Amino acid sequence: MLINERAKELFTEMLNKSAADTDKLFARLMIFQWLACVVIAYFVSPETWNGEESSVHVHVWAAIFIGGAISAFTGALAHFYPSEKITRHLIAVAQMCMSILIIHVSGGRIESHFHIFGSLAFLAFYYDPQVLITASLITAADHYLRGVYWPMSAYGELTVGTWRWLEHGAWVIFEDVFLIYSCLRSQKGLAEISNRQASLELINSEIEAQIVARTAELEAQRERTLEGEKMAALGEMAAGMAHEINNPVSVIQLTSEQLQDVLSDENPDIEMSREMAKNIQMTVGRIGKIVRSLKSFARDGETDPMVETPVNQIIEETLVLCNEKFRNRGVHLRYEKFPDQLKLSCRSVQISQIILNLLQNALDAVEVLPEKWVEITFAEDSESTRIMVTDSGGGIPEHIREKILQPFFTTKEVGKGTGLGLSISKGIMDAHHGELSIDTKCSNTRFILNFKRDSYGTKVA
Ligand SMILES: Nc1ncnc2c1ncn2[C@@H]1O[C@H](COP(=O)(O)OP(=O)(O)OP(=O)(O)O)[C@@H](O)[C@H]1O
Ligand SMILES: [Mg+2]
Repeated sequence: MLINERAKELFTEMLNKSAADTDKLFARLMIFQWLACVVIAYFVSPETWNGEESSVHVHVWAAIFIGGAISAFTGALAHFYPSEKITRHLIAVAQMCMSILIIHVSGGRIESHFHIFGSLAFLAFYYDPQVLITASLITAADHYLRGVYWPMSAYGELTVGTWRWLEHGAWVIFEDVFLIYSCLRSQKGLAEISNRQASLELINSEIEAQIVARTAELEAQRERTLEGEKMAALGEMAAGMAHEINNPVSVIQLTSEQLQDVLSDENPDIEMSREMAKNIQMTVGRIGKIVRSLKSFARDGETDPMVETPVNQIIEETLVLCNEKFRNRGVHLRYEKFPDQLKLSCRSVQISQIILNLLQNALDAVEVLPEKWVEITFAEDSESTRIMVTDSGGGIPEHIREKILQPFFTTKEVGKGTGLGLSISKGIMDAHHGELSIDTKCSNTRFILNFKRDSYGTKVA
């Protein structure tokens, strides 16, 4: 199974890391022991007397050269072959050789034999019982051979009993039992940690995969909803549009008939004809405007460049799309033309989308109220230009104020609201370095579009 394999991999990784650390530890320890060994050799058996002459005892030389060789060997192993299995066994051998050397230079003193126990304890850091066995075998072999051939070096006596090495060996086995038990327990602990980590990793990756899938799903859903919303809005608008265009078309028809009448007079009234032609031209202009609004709304404008656009133009184009709806639902829509010089550097289609959504929200909210009006106003100071959409409602209740800008928050019935309008609007405002906020000071419900002047939000021509 995947999780077991990963756990094994982690277990090996941890063991290797700890083995490499222990290799390094021994490399340093060896240098320290080397120096200690030289000091012991110098003070415990410093000189040999040869008649009247004294000279540096051969033990000191042994400590320097043999100890140096052992240290160099360990250092090289730790450096070139860290965490290898053979490395830890060779280091175990080297460490036991260092013990032998120390026992030897101290003249086989019994205290020096404790060095072996210390060495075994350090070797247990490898968490590998086999390393302890290698070390123990070396020390047993050494005690046996030196007992037979060189008892002075190992035990500080000229003769020792045949079974002396076994007595020492028994103590080593006694310690080994505890150390091997502790190695196995540590291994078990590491295995448990590896298992836990492997299952955590698996859970994490599952969660991540779920998040990715869910995000993609949400994104797809958002796109579908947006598309659906737009189509619904377009459908509703088309009905309004028919009405909006019908009026000017009737005006054109009527005026052109009248114009023909006037022109067929004997003395046609040129001034009147001109007025009528002008009227026709103006009305055609109005139709053009309506068509343009619809066309621009049909695009999403996300990739449009930022263009300096008169605010009036944006609002008028938006109103064309929803005037009819307000009229049908008996809601009074107030808008007084802003100063002509008020311009925004923006993607006008997107700003128009925001205003349309705010107007739609306001319309939905005031429809059920006795007093029904919506108003578009502006305010300006040295720092910003603000477009405000206010309606006759009494403000957004405090407990949902934080939430309404979040995606999918809606109080509308299923199928009516998606809860995306305000969050999309907020996203668009962010992209314009502006801000969409709720005016909490106003006694009515008021949304503010704040365009900063110093960024590239607002400019007054
Ligand atoms: N003018 C307002 N008056 C009262 N409540 C409002 C007003 N504008 C928004 N809200 C509240 O904020 C909620 C979220 O609005 P938002 O425009 O994000 O989504 P929606 O209108 O519910 O759905 P959608 O716009 O996607 O069709 C609304 O459901 C409504 O409860
Ligand atoms: Mg909405």
